[in-house]
Amino acid sequence: MHEKIPLTMKPIALMIIILSMFLSLIDESEASENVNKVDYSQDIIYQIVTDRFYDGDPSNNPSGNLYSQTDLHKYMGGDWKGITQKIQEGYFQELGITALWISQPVENVYALHPEGYTSYHGYWARDYKKTNPFYGDFDDFDELIGVAHNNGMKVIMDFTPNHSSPALETDPSYVENGAIYDNGHLLSDYSNDTLDIFHHNGGTDFSSYEDGIYKNLYDLADYNLQNETLDLYLKESIELWLDKGIDGIRVDAVKHMPQGWLESLVNHINSYQPVFTFGEWFLGHGEIDPKNHFFANESGMSLLDFQYGQEIRSVLKSGENTWLDFHEMIEQTSVNYREVIDQVTFIDNHDMSRFNLDNSTHINSEMALAVLLTSRGVPTIYYGTEQYLTGESDPENRKPMPNFDKTTKAYQIISKLSHLRQNNSALGYGDTTELWINEDVYIYERKFGNNVVVTAVNSGDTDYTITNMETSLPGGTYSDVLEGLLGGNSLSINENGAVNEFVLGSNEVSVWEKTETSSEPKIGHIGPMSGQPGNEITINGEGFKNDEGIVLVGENHATITSWSDNEITFSVPEILGDHYDIKVVTANEVESNNYPDFEVLTNKLISVRFVVEQANTNYGTEVYLVGNTQELGNWDPDKAIGPFFNQVLYEYPTWYYDISVPAEHPLEYKFIKKDNENNVIWESGTNHSYTAPSQGTDTIMSTWRN
Ligand code: NOJ
Ligand code: NOJ
Ligand code: CA
Ligand code: CA
Repeated sequence: MHEKIPLTMKPIALMIIILSMFLSLIDESEASENVNKVDYSQDIIYQIVTDRFYDGDPSNNPSGNLYSQTDLHKYMGGDWKGITQKIQEGYFQELGITALWISQPVENVYALHPEGYTSYHGYWARDYKKTNPFYGDFDDFDELIGVAHNNGMKVIMDFTPNHSSPALETDPSYVENGAIYDNGHLLSDYSNDTLDIFHHNGGTDFSSYEDGIYKNLYDLADYNLQNETLDLYLKESIELWLDKGIDGIRVDAVKHMPQGWLESLVNHINSYQPVFTFGEWFLGHGEIDPKNHFFANESGMSLLDFQYGQEIRSVLKSGENTWLDFHEMIEQTSVNYREVIDQVTFIDNHDMSRFNLDNSTHINSEMALAVLLTSRGVPTIYYGTEQYLTGESDPENRKPMPNFDKTTKAYQIISKLSHLRQNNSALGYGDTTELWINEDVYIYERKFGNNVVVTAVNSGDTDYTITNMETSLPGGTYSDVLEGLLGGNSLSINENGAVNEFVLGSNEVSVWEKTETSSEPKIGHIGPMSGQPGNEITINGEGFKNDEGIVLVGENHATITSWSDNEITFSVPEILGDHYDIKVVTANEVESNNYPDFEVLTNKLISVRFVVEQANTNYGTEVYLVGNTQELGNWDPDKAIGPFFNQVLYEYPTWYYDISVPAEHPLEYKFIKKDNENNVIWESGTNHSYTAPSQGTDTIMSTWRN
């Protein structure tokens, strides 16, 4: 569309060109309305390392020492045209994939890292308003989005707002000195950071949350997100990609950024063009982190479910844990995560060893896939898992896609269960009940309304006879959805609901299901789960009927913007910021379930750094802030924001914290001190008062009022 049209061209040819441009525009915008950008619960994500998937255009490959066909640290040629081609060939559709997560699409550094590394993975940004030319240009990107949408598939982009690229304080010639550009115009670089865009606090030793946020992650030039130029630049950049039609965002390294700033980012996205946004907060094997749960519940963003990923790996890959541990994780996470169905599950990814160890046997990968695709959460398949790719660590776990064979057993399993997931809403929206369990066997039921899916897995060496099992499946005989791919059989249930005794063989998985949409209104999902008055929110579920009814946010009627039997959109009413239950009432006055914890924000969110000096405390006591709005905890010390930090940017007895606060709203607040038994000491004197600007960021310095 950017080419010049030669002046000599005949008018008729010109007309045809203009007409076809116009038609292609219509095509894209129509297609992009088809996909639901905020509800992923019935989706199956396929994670692609763009450079490693398929080379659809050798002409865009880098030359010289950036490119190799054997060195996994170099670019290998994969691009957006390659992905587009595989969509057109039907590789994903038969697999049942409904969302593609691609590498960060933005321009990355060109310089070689001293160890010979390139930025093939896309995590070393240089200019967020340009494309990585080795993946393609904007026309190629538009084509990818258009073709994906026309095939009912969403596109998720990776995004790194934590850092630019590798840099060293004292050596400007190291890679590209972290330099960051705004559409070709240099903003700043690491060793000559006149704009104060970066942190200069050395590298993190991971000793605390604060240390990991305000210091560099490895040698990556860490952003000072309170910098107004940078805040604006990153938010403008994400608008550019939203305008391009992306349907979801995976945010890199969220554990290493202030939650306050990330809340302002999510709010910016949700106010501009809401899309499903999920962060990467890495957890190691056995690691459970309340801060991770808090983040998922309060930030407005979901998380990659590392607890799930690590647990299924310890049951089926390393064998350290059993199904008893796995079920405990399922139970605990259903309490710890408010929206457990929005967390993004996986069995492996580009930062850990591939699930499939070697090709002597595939059974454990296959069982893991069956469990993944029938569990709560949004399942993600790492590219090549269906081709049994192996690889211990990075970059061995990012080998090129070896082939596109649709006949592997893993491909068949994914295909059957992905399609089930799209048809039977129990897998997307349902809760999980354990029906029968021991160390080797896990039988669990997912249920939403009258939709039921039962999965039985035996990963032990012996067969088990299953007796006295009860399920919600009504009497009848149910055939195995996997059609015996993993040795499964049919299940028969008596008229009185009792399951007939059956044998679950060693290494066997069966899946039984009943799809039955009920006519009762039932909410399965709401997204996003926070927003200020006027923001658009989407409800999905069943039985809403086609005539418009009512959406209640607490007691308040919301303005409906669209209504159908399984999807409603409404705008957040002008009510006080707080948490509310949401309920649908059909036109014939039948009420749905209550969907709890929707957060009404006071206004659009701005990241403000609150600094308080001379706040002396006893050991174990920490400083928090509490104030007069939902965002500041509504004067409830249990909801106060913090604990504040006091080591990196400022040192004790000065404390600081970056908090998302409503723009242009008169705030009243106090700092408080809380000890580990929750005893509270309030600042004395009058409240602090402050009104945040309409955009940008701010810093407020105060002294503790004794
Ligand atoms: C986590 C990503 O998944 C990893 O691959 C990357 O190197 C780091 N974040 C830094 O961006
Ligand atoms: C964090 C707070 O804990 C939460 O209650 C608040 O709603 C969000 N910030 C958004 O402002
Ligand atoms: Ca290429
Ligand atoms: Ca950081």
